[in-house]
Amino acid sequence: MILQQSSNLLKLLLLLAISSVRTQGLNDIIIELNQRLLISNNFLYCNQSDKLNEYEIKYLQHMPPISLMIFTSIESMNFTQVEYNLGADNKLFLIMGNEEPPYDFLHALNLHFQFAEYIIVIDEPVDLKKSTKWLDFVNHLWQQGYVQLLIYTSYDEKLYHKIIFPETVIEETLVEQYISIRGSFNNLYGYPVRVAAYNNAPRSMLYVNRWGKHIFAGFYMRFLRAFIDARNGSFVPVLTPSNSPGNCTLNLVNETVDVCADALAANPAAFSLTHGFRIASANVLVTHAKPLHSYRYLTAPFQWSVWACLVIYVLLVVNFLSFIGWLRSGKWEFSKYLLEVFSSLLFSGFYLKEIRGRERYILFGVLFIAGFVYSTEYLGLLKSMLISEVFEKQIDTFEALVESNITLMVDPYDKILFAKYNMPEILSPIMELVSFETLLKHRNRFDQDYAYILFSDRMALYDYAQQFLKHPKLLRIPIDFSFLYTGIPMRKRWFLKHHLGRAWYWAFESGLTRKLALDADFEAVRVGYLSFLITEHVEAQPLNVDYFVMPAIALAIGYILALLSFVIEMTAWRIREFLGCRKATMTSTGCSEGGHVDVD
Ligand SMILES: *[C@@H]1O[C@H](CO)[C@@H](O)[C@H](O)[C@H]1NC(C)=O
Ligand SMILES: *[C@@H]1O[C@H](CO)[C@@H](O)[C@H](O)[C@H]1NC(C)=O
Ligand SMILES: *[C@@H]1O[C@H](CO)[C@@H](O)[C@H](O)[C@H]1NC(C)=O
Ligand SMILES: *[C@@H]1O[C@H](CO)[C@@H](O)[C@H](O)[C@H]1NC(C)=O
Ligand SMILES: *[C@@H]1O[C@H](CO)[C@@H](O)[C@H](O)[C@H]1NC(C)=O
Ligand SMILES: *[C@@H]1O[C@H](CO)[C@@H](O)[C@H](O)[C@H]1NC(C)=O
Repeated sequence: MILQQSSNLLKLLLLLAISSVRTQGLNDIIIELNQRLLISNNFLYCNQSDKLNEYEIKYLQHMPPISLMIFTSIESMNFTQVEYNLGADNKLFLIMGNEEPPYDFLHALNLHFQFAEYIIVIDEPVDLKKSTKWLDFVNHLWQQGYVQLLIYTSYDEKLYHKIIFPETVIEETLVEQYISIRGSFNNLYGYPVRVAAYNNAPRSMLYVNRWGKHIFAGFYMRFLRAFIDARNGSFVPVLTPSNSPGNCTLNLVNETVDVCADALAANPAAFSLTHGFRIASANVLVTHAKPLHSYRYLTAPFQWSVWACLVIYVLLVVNFLSFIGWLRSGKWEFSKYLLEVFSSLLFSGFYLKEIRGRERYILFGVLFIAGFVYSTEYLGLLKSMLISEVFEKQIDTFEALVESNITLMVDPYDKILFAKYNMPEILSPIMELVSFETLLKHRNRFDQDYAYILFSDRMALYDYAQQFLKHPKLLRIPIDFSFLYTGIPMRKRWFLKHHLGRAWYWAFESGLTRKLALDADFEAVRVGYLSFLITEHVEAQPLNVDYFVMPAIALAIGYILALLSFVIEMTAWRIREFLGCRKATMTSTGCSEGGHVDVD
């Protein structure tokens, strides 16, 4: 009895041992892939519970521990959630129990985990090399963007991989061999890659050169063309109906292009992005401070507070002098003292003749020092201003921009972008929505009546075009905002997504992107998207009439003041005469020299 039992046990053990030898193949493959590709999670899909038990005994018990998730039905899988929780990289999927190609599983994946490894295990004997249904499935798979596929046939323990170019075949392989060539599309044999082409300098530019040839150039365009050439693909430009990136997005969504030669902000619903290293930020480009109006030169040397102090000083000193004068001679003589104080400030002769005694020297000293300091500083600064140009205050904050009431032009695409990401709230009152063409027309002319928002790469182009100006026309406000994760947008199902992402990364690492950016700026200027602005020469120029507006105003004010003080003094003098006369009449001594005075 015991013997019988133990022999049963022995049989079972033997069976296990045999099965483990028999199935070592698949386990080895998985272990090898896990190790070599640094896989972090394995997923197992099998919708038949009996088969799953069998697999557990055959494979899972002999696996080194690794994070494993088992799905038994399509409904239980929510790959959006799984990708969100575990990340998209370094995953391996094992799909078991298939007699038919697992189209429903692929459907459930819904474009998630496109870069994962997939191993499909087939139990039934099938001649894979000739089977059209499996060939169709492989074709379908890479067109959905799944390119890392292995097929394992458990009945004869063979491993197959696929070759897509020049034509799709399923071919037997070894795991080491597979790893060495995995996912490489080095030769596309002229397979067309459709690139959306539109003008968006410096990223993408279309023009006809001197020999009538259509040129597709620009930073991203040249990069994409080099990428396609290096893989022996054929570059197929697809002209979009407008130059707005909005149409590139539409084309990617309806899958009429594979990739756009542009850099856009992430929009996972519409397209995939290259793995970015770029965080783009925007700046506001605003007019450089204008030269000061010539009539303002006369007031420019002092701030308004200094002018106010000066007025107070004049009033105080004149009042004080007239008060002393009144004490001495009994007469109020404002205008005389006003003239004396002005003379002292202009540092021309002044005498204070009416005041005698020691206080004259003290007052003289005070006026002398104040006048000397004021006139020296004022004249010195004024002279230096007339020699070198002086500019208004540069707008360098958003508050100043809003205050200056300069219209900020944005196109519809940017408007959507800024509605979604962080646009400074303060700028919204001055923002004006205009069409893409209008915006370009004004911006490319460096129209200083408007402000513009530019992202860093385009900003570089505008800086480049202005580099020879001593006084650039448009300057950036040094505040970065709207930080966006950007990259090259690609169709979601495009099988070369990962490759382009890697190429882009290498281009950055090797400094190629820098070179491409410089070349693109140069090319944009050369073919006339923007032109270098002409240097304005600085040379001594005779003053024009404008400069004399202010002195004329000052002269007029002086005359008016003089007239006013004359009238006031006359009136005061007459009132005094009249009062003196009345007093004299009352004491009946009669009016002295004054004679009759009419005060009506
Ligand atoms: C398992 O999935 C296949 C298709 O992949 C389907 O034909 C089959 O009916 C499913 N079996 C169960 C038990 O759900
Ligand atoms: C998957 O999970 C996401 C996020 O939790 C959810 O929004 C979505 O509706 C789920 N999809 C299905 C098919 O259950
Ligand atoms: C590149 O593709 C063409 C087909 O467009 C093919 O004839 C040629 O052999 C390929 N070049 C290489 C180096 O394989
Ligand atoms: C696409 O181009 C058409 C034609 O120029 C234009 O009317 C439309 O607004 C563009 N669509 C977007 C989203 O930019
Ligand atoms: C795809 O979208 C673009 C841009 O709106 C449009 O011009 C083109 O006709 C569309 N193509 C198809 C096949 O729908
Ligand atoms: C700002 O400019 C707009 C037009 O350019 C004008 O309608 C508006 O009155 C101006 N606002 C102020 C405060 O100057």
